[in-house]
Amino acid sequence: MPLAEILGSIQRSELYVVHIGRQNGPRVATLTVDDRASDLRWTEDERRDAARYVHKLYVVPRVAPGLGSALLDWAGRHAAGAGAEWLRLDVWTENRRLRQYYEDQGFSLVRVVGGLDSGALYQRPSTTCVERDPSLIIVDSTTEYVPPPSEP
Ligand SMILES: CC(C)(COP(=O)(O)OP(=O)(O)OC[C@H]1O[C@@H](n2cnc3c(N)ncnc32)[C@H](O)[C@@H]1OP(=O)(O)O)[C@@H](O)C(=O)NCCC(=O)NCCS
Repeated sequence: MPLAEILGSIQRSELYVVHIGRQNGPRVATLTVDDRASDLRWTEDERRDAARYVHKLYVVPRVAPGLGSALLDWAGRHAAGAGAEWLRLDVWTENRRLRQYYEDQGFSLVRVVGGLDSGALYQRPSTTCVERDPSLIIVDSTTEYVPPPSEP
């Protein structure tokens, strides 16, 4: 991932870091949500759609099962709040397991773009909500993960 791309996401306030419990608590996840569609992947018509694009989703393993799913729901709410109809992402074409994960999260395959590693394009309505665990609360303004009371 080019550093300039990451720095650009930070400067535009599109990169989110998720903390447990409080804003300076342990960092457990990151993602970016933006409206910049890749013109290598999405057609001109699709780029005109009201959509937000998730990139760089990463969750520290085994800290909070389902957090990735909850964050995708959060990204959807964020997108819907900004007037977007679709939440979109691209996945490594050959990574069948990861593609299955996104399909299980309610994403539909739009198409596979040849000649790109990350060419499997997916979308779901921004209003889709998959995570049912009520203990996974993502606080919108700060993107915090608030653990259930039983957790230390
Ligand atoms: C993808 C991710 C955010 C999902 O988080 P989550 O909703 O909390 O779900 P889990 O971490 O339990 O993963 C769900 C399933 O996807 C699989 N998976 C996750 N990342 C994967 C990857 N990069 N390649 C293949 N499979 C992957 C997990 O092994 C798990 O499979 P299982 O249910 O058969 O055990 C998280 O696993 C992650 O950060 N993965 C590494 C980074 C990554 O691949 N990000 C996606 C970029 S498009």
